[in-house]
Amino acid sequence: MTIVSSAQPWWQAATIYQIYPRSFADANGDGVGDLNGIADRLDYLVDLGIDTIWISPIFPSPMADFGYDVADYTGIDPRFGTLADFDALLAKAHARGLRILLDFVPNHSSNQHAWFQQSRTSRDDPKRDWYIWRDPAPDGGPPNNWISDFGSPAWTYDAATGQYYSRAFLPEQPDLNWRNPAVRAAMLDAMRFWFDRGVDGFRLDVLWHIVKHAGFPDNPPNPDYHPGMGEMHRVHQLHSTDQPEVHVIAAEMRELADRYGAVLVGEIYLPVPKLMTYYGSADLPGVHLPFNFQLIEARWNAADLAARIVEYEAALPPGGWPNWVLGNHDRPRIATRVGPAQARVAAMLLLTLRGTPTLYQGDELGLPDARIPTDRVQDPRELREPGLGLGRDPVRTPLPWDAAGGFTIGEPWLPVDPAHLPLNVAAQAADPASMLALYRRLLALRRATPPLATGAIDTVTASGDVLRYDRSDGTTRYRILLNLGDTPVPVPVPVPVGTVGAVLTTDPSGTADPHLLRPAEGVIVKVS
Ligand code: GLC
Repeated sequence: MTIVSSAQPWWQAATIYQIYPRSFADANGDGVGDLNGIADRLDYLVDLGIDTIWISPIFPSPMADFGYDVADYTGIDPRFGTLADFDALLAKAHARGLRILLDFVPNHSSNQHAWFQQSRTSRDDPKRDWYIWRDPAPDGGPPNNWISDFGSPAWTYDAATGQYYSRAFLPEQPDLNWRNPAVRAAMLDAMRFWFDRGVDGFRLDVLWHIVKHAGFPDNPPNPDYHPGMGEMHRVHQLHSTDQPEVHVIAAEMRELADRYGAVLVGEIYLPVPKLMTYYGSADLPGVHLPFNFQLIEARWNAADLAARIVEYEAALPPGGWPNWVLGNHDRPRIATRVGPAQARVAAMLLLTLRGTPTLYQGDELGLPDARIPTDRVQDPRELREPGLGLGRDPVRTPLPWDAAGGFTIGEPWLPVDPAHLPLNVAAQAADPASMLALYRRLLALRRATPPLATGAIDTVTASGDVLRYDRSDGTTRYRILLNLGDTPVPVPVPVPVGTVGAVLTTDPSGTADPHLLRPAEGVIVKVS
């Protein structure tokens, strides 16, 4: 495991790998990945060099949003296995020094959850107020102008009781009412259930959504809206998200997690100053790691990246620990966003910045977005707003383990893009010039090198196409030089003879040129 000082919490030196369980490995041949599939492949993750796994939701679910519609917060969906399978996976992971984070979905349950089934039976039901019910507007329409993140009004009419329920995502995902103390208690109990089984933390789905303005005012229109952005952008989500009360709830979750030495990672898509409020304060601590999506939002050039790194580092509250994310199951893959050559530079960037990195399944193979034939589309977002490029199936296809696929002996739930097959794990594991080999080298170096894992960062600068920064722990200093362009750049790297040199390059040749950075080459140099 990573070397850390005893004062440093484990998750600060951790490297997180996100597993999308439907598509990681299928042990029972039904075409959908499962917990036993993950358990069978743990050695792959150990060899890769990560130490913490975040598994997207595995709870019982009708799968309207592929697990992000939870019908029971304390069970395992039979498609993924059983509670016993989960316990076995956790034990096997812990025995290998791997920690496991589950994906908790607090904003909404499934409409098939027993709580919602009960809530919708009558206006007087004791569970009525566990969800957010409002009368229709005077014209009979939705109570206000809020729009679902997947398009269409964020309200669904329920004829049985003549009211609308709030749902920030699909009609099958009714929003829980976190202003109700009974909901809070029940959800914290669910978290406790998993902590007691030994899970090491949670990723908290759409944390900034969970409390809505108590008066339900209309959201302000977005003057920059144009069709093609996705209908959700018609309005700014001023009143439907990011309400001050969310921080009180985050603090309750934090207090619970801290009792178990566990970590909370919050999914929050907000500008940096707002994002920082999710760290909380000394009085009201927030999540340990509010996900930092700056590398997903960045334009891929040295100036923009440098500006974002500097802005983010400067904005961190006292004691706030940074984190970086290159991709996830919702966003286009890095290899497609920046191309295969720059994806190698991105790997070095992710694994040499200060802070806990999160790496998405398949990015370690340099997979591009998969092509999905129209008749195989599964993602509800794509089905509801087709053709805008918002669909998420292209980043959710099965991991190619070998030249024949190797994910399942059955028919995979999403097709494997033939273009992914040559990038399979077995082929890359045997090729020292591969992306997988680069990830392994970077992760091994990071693990063995405290300044890279947890040291300070300084001198973040962009000069032309080159992004540069140093990492140091006071005694040893490493310089990272990344060529974001496609032309060679002569770079004067101070190299005191005999003591230093390029310890690692992204160049497939494996050796750096002492005089220049090649196109799309990144190097880590020990400078003192
Ligand atoms: C988060 C998840 C996404 C899901 C949505 C609703 O953004 O990452 O996959 O569809 O929340 O739960």
